[in-house]
Amino acid sequence: MWSVLAGVLAVASLGAACTPSVTTVSGTHAPATVCSGALIFSDDFNTFDLEKWQHENTLAGGGNWEFQYYNNNRTNSFVHSGRLFIRPSLMSDQFGEPFLSSGTLNVEGGAPADRCTNPQWWGCERTGTPSNLLNPIKSARVRTVNSFSFRYGRLEVRAKMPAGDWLWPAIWLMPAYNTYGTWPASGEIDLVESRGNRGMTLNGVHIGTQEAGSTLHYGPYPALNGWERAHWIRRNTAGYNNNFHRYQLEWTPDFLRFSIDDLELGRVTPGAGGFWQFGGFNSNPNIENPWRYGSKMAPFDEKFYLIMNVAVGGTNGFFPDGVSNPSPKPWWNGSPTAPRDFWNARWQWEPTWNLNNHDGQDASLQVDYVRIWAL
Ligand SMILES: *[C@@H]1O[C@H](CO)[C@@H](O)[C@H](O)[C@H]1NC(C)=O
Repeated sequence: MWSVLAGVLAVASLGAACTPSVTTVSGTHAPATVCSGALIFSDDFNTFDLEKWQHENTLAGGGNWEFQYYNNNRTNSFVHSGRLFIRPSLMSDQFGEPFLSSGTLNVEGGAPADRCTNPQWWGCERTGTPSNLLNPIKSARVRTVNSFSFRYGRLEVRAKMPAGDWLWPAIWLMPAYNTYGTWPASGEIDLVESRGNRGMTLNGVHIGTQEAGSTLHYGPYPALNGWERAHWIRRNTAGYNNNFHRYQLEWTPDFLRFSIDDLELGRVTPGAGGFWQFGGFNSNPNIENPWRYGSKMAPFDEKFYLIMNVAVGGTNGFFPDGVSNPSPKPWWNGSPTAPRDFWNARWQWEPTWNLNNHDGQDASLQVDYVRIWAL
């Protein structure tokens, strides 16, 4: 009798413990069953778990001719005091300065963990010349591409942004399977991006460490991207580099909502016309809608994985040519010699990175935790 009752209670509590969720997951670290409200992925960074976080290994520059070489090296990414640090360093520290203008760097390796992760944009091998310098900065970018991806859920990352001129930290999500085609047709979710300059303004407005932004990228092809309708920023005069903040995404079959420290930054709740209409793409009947057989949330109705990185510079306009900064922006976005122009001005930006103090913590993106819950 007692054991029958215990069995009934156990079944009843199991039933209560797992309400199925609309959230779906995949990857080596995804739970087998997804219960509503459950924590389905997390990292407190007490150890650096490379089974969860795969390093990028590439010179590709993110498609924006950014100035960094992403590598797997504990100078550029490490766990310390329960935090993940992503810290830029100078390429010349490792290879010497002449290498930038004359060396050949092939980053392809033989071990599975050493493979070049992005061959696009001369990502696996480059040769420096006096006008076309090799990437002058080393940094890191880690991702859960193999370990975890999810569709719908709540994401919270507690992090501190880096400070230092022309640093571009990002915590973001990319589609796991490109269900609707290549970028930006399958979407991109930028949880937080900022700029490391402590005193940079554009038209009198501070756009450096005092600004953080969230963005969705989506569109039928790269030149047609509706991000400007899904981009939000918040200013904080204390600087996002001086304190940890909680960067949050709530992603449901009805809306995507970004918040910082529980205060909503922005949201998109698409109507029946979905992101095609939200982006204003429906005004041109000659363009085929890649999302026409998806839900109204398409392309944000498929699984995405997490990425965290510190990029530097680039020529796509994230650092606009017209900014005012204590030392002027050393490259034009149209310049074919941007990495060289940047490197030649290192006397100006390098001191702002403070790399020789406290293991470069000022210039590091610091992540206290990552948590993802099922809806
Ligand atoms: C890691 O980076 C440091 C600093 O750039 C460099 O001195 C070292 O040689 C690198 N290690 C490897 C294995 O490449």
